[in-house]
Amino acid sequence: MKENRKHNVILIGYMGSGKTSVGECLSKRLTYHFRDTDQLLERKAGDTINHIFATRGEEYFRNLETELLMELNDNLEHTVLSTGGGLPLREQNASLLRKMGYVVFLKASKQTIIKRINRDTTRPLLRGGDINQKVESMLAVRTPIYERTAHKIIATDDKSVDEIALLIMEAYLKQISK
Ligand code: S3P
Repeated sequence: MKENRKHNVILIGYMGSGKTSVGECLSKRLTYHFRDTDQLLERKAGDTINHIFATRGEEYFRNLETELLMELNDNLEHTVLSTGGGLPLREQNASLLRKMGYVVFLKASKQTIIKRINRDTTRPLLRGGDINQKVESMLAVRTPIYERTAHKIIATDDKSVDEIALLIMEAYLKQISK
């Protein structure tokens, strides 16, 4: 396999793109472990993401993400890793992810995302303001970054969790058998 990648699948994408539900489903199908960077980070910090943002700010949270990723880099095998939506935005994180496994971007339209995250209170970056505008401008910045970080892009609109997991599995198994 190229880039000396390990046997892991890494899911990236915007908030509400289905990384956690698809990741759980995929890990069962592959009989891999499942990990989620948001959950690991909250456990490591002993605090919620909301509270970390509110008391320490985004930069502090981003530093925790990078720290966590560097720790995971040495220890991840046969794992499906779901990542926080902003994690690949740092170039250092993006290149680490590509070394850690097969990176899949779950691409969802603005409409799908808004349907899923509407009234969400657990994501600090979505608080206040016009959600439509917010998602649109964040997607404009993030989409090219997700696209160039990923080994594979999966369009997820109108697909079930199981269908998406199967598509990833097919692509991943083909890749590791090369
Ligand atoms: C963030 C996404 C969240 C979480 C934090 C910041 C982002 O994770 O890491 O609220 O910048 O997109 P999910 O993508 O799992 O919601």
